[in-house]
Amino acid sequence: MCGIIGYIIKEGGEKNLAPILINGLRRLEYRGYDSAGLSVINAKGEVLKEKSVGKIDSLVEKLKDQEFIGTLGIAHTRWATHGGVTESNTHPHTDCSGRIILVHNGIIENYRDLREKFLKDHNFVSETDTEVLAHLIEYFYTQTNKKDLRGSLIKALQLVVGTYGIAVVSLDEPNKIICARKGSPLVLGVADDAFLIASDASPLLPHTKKVIYLEDGEILELTPKDFQIFNLKDEKIARTPEEIEWNEEQAQKGGFPHFMLKEIFEQPNTFKDALAGRLVPNDGVAHLGGLRLTDEELRQIKKIKIIACGSAFHAGLVGKYILEHVAWMPTDVEVASEFRYRDPVVEDNTLTICISQSGETADTLGALIEARRKGSKVMGIVNVVGSTIAREAGRGVYIHAGPELSVASTKAFTNQVAILMVLALQLGRLTHLPLATGKLIIKSILEIPAKMQEIIKQNEVIKNIAEKYKAYEDFYFIGRGINAPIALEGALKLKEISYVHAEGMPSGELKHGPIALIDDKCPVMAIVTKDSLYEKMVSNVEEIKARHGKLILIATEGDEDVKKLSDDIIYIPKTSEMLSPLLTVVPMQLFAYHMAVLRGKDVDRPRNLAKSVTVE
Ligand code: M6R
Repeated sequence: MCGIIGYIIKEGGEKNLAPILINGLRRLEYRGYDSAGLSVINAKGEVLKEKSVGKIDSLVEKLKDQEFIGTLGIAHTRWATHGGVTESNTHPHTDCSGRIILVHNGIIENYRDLREKFLKDHNFVSETDTEVLAHLIEYFYTQTNKKDLRGSLIKALQLVVGTYGIAVVSLDEPNKIICARKGSPLVLGVADDAFLIASDASPLLPHTKKVIYLEDGEILELTPKDFQIFNLKDEKIARTPEEIEWNEEQAQKGGFPHFMLKEIFEQPNTFKDALAGRLVPNDGVAHLGGLRLTDEELRQIKKIKIIACGSAFHAGLVGKYILEHVAWMPTDVEVASEFRYRDPVVEDNTLTICISQSGETADTLGALIEARRKGSKVMGIVNVVGSTIAREAGRGVYIHAGPELSVASTKAFTNQVAILMVLALQLGRLTHLPLATGKLIIKSILEIPAKMQEIIKQNEVIKNIAEKYKAYEDFYFIGRGINAPIALEGALKLKEISYVHAEGMPSGELKHGPIALIDDKCPVMAIVTKDSLYEKMVSNVEEIKARHGKLILIATEGDEDVKKLSDDIIYIPKTSEMLSPLLTVVPMQLFAYHMAVLRGKDVDRPRNLAKSVTVE
């Protein structure tokens, strides 16, 4: 978790690097925002540094009226794992002399052992695992007179157990940044006037689109002249930059007050991007190129396991309904953090699908590796191009949602469901699904963006409903069938950004206990769309009404009957039952968003959370 940025001017010039580093950190702030710091080295080999507890703005406040003129710099925004949120635990960290300066993302699991074994006489100032790394580099750096930062880092990393994305500098070699990656992403940007390194590509976009995604076990050396990549044996590796697709505008708020609202509003377009080139309407077929499985291999798959966390898990639950209904494919869905700590039985001909927006979620990555070890074919459904899960899976599908910067996942969720639908269609058409049904499914899929737009137009209606309910502290979210996971997703959205207690459940479960809590203080948001379970949902709604529960209903447009049961109602356009979650989720996203804004919360960066969860 945590974000890193590094910058080195080509050809050795000097300039004020603070604004560049700060702008980079702002784009990484979603990765953690407990505290932030930066170090800049000037042409005389001196270091200028600043740290601050709190969000990037508090660091900016401290930097006010200061210029950090230098040739290179490194900076970090932290999400605390080892050691509290204090200035001394804030990165950059240094060795005893203060001459080796380091930022790190990840966890050094054996930091206590390393400290005990090699660093007993070193002087530590923080409680972090990271500081051990700075001292371990120092341990090797001072063993000879030859100043060799890269070699010392490699020696240190050979002793390290854990994950890292690192950028380190030494005042004794003041024209170099050395970086290393294992399990925490790092991307090199090659600009006309500088080299950059960052935890993801978004801070690079104002400078360049030419990037190299470092692989695990790679070491990068940046100097004003060039960049070189090595392996952990210190052998040179040849890599050429590639062009990234994301543009600068995509990474900005584009006039919206928050990334979350922008990302909700983007869904009609991002949904189209997920489908682009993947559907053949005349043949009623779908094709996901990244699967890298022949039709015959796809026909041999007898079971799908979906593994994910949070919203991606909810997308997987929706996917189970779709895959079983459309492709007749037995599908299990499991929370990634549980998967590898039980004894998962992976049957023959199982395809394990790991869904992750960031592609960096440690639990999901761990589960992927375990499933593969047990003999399963694995694939990723991932948003961030070049991310660890995307590359580790070797086979997979990008959801093409563009950068999702709000911590609360919205457009990635709908695109994950879109891809699962496309996959189900592809599998179904390879086995039993007739041409006519395939064509019908594609027709319905292609109508979704316009229907999403219809819901988005009701933003003000939903805002007014949120206004009415903003003071309530407990909510239930209920749905049935394929919309039961949307109830879970609606509750997750509300609690994570507005800090209101919310529970989501299949509505059939209410009578097994939760209905005891229903009264006029616990509003219920219920999905009562016209589908195969409509009558049963209406009965559940009646049961709530009879107990004086307040009801906010999501219903199919034109349904006047159900309106009589509601306190408030949001209408959505009619679509096929299998695709309905793509629509029912949108009012839930907007409701959660407005609740959070009205309660004065930091929508895009909710407390205690981070966008990519790279710890277990
Ligand atoms: O990057 P991932 O999709 O793997 O992230 C999984 C969850 O951490 C994520 O969906 C989380 O639940 C979101 N904050 C939900 O909005």
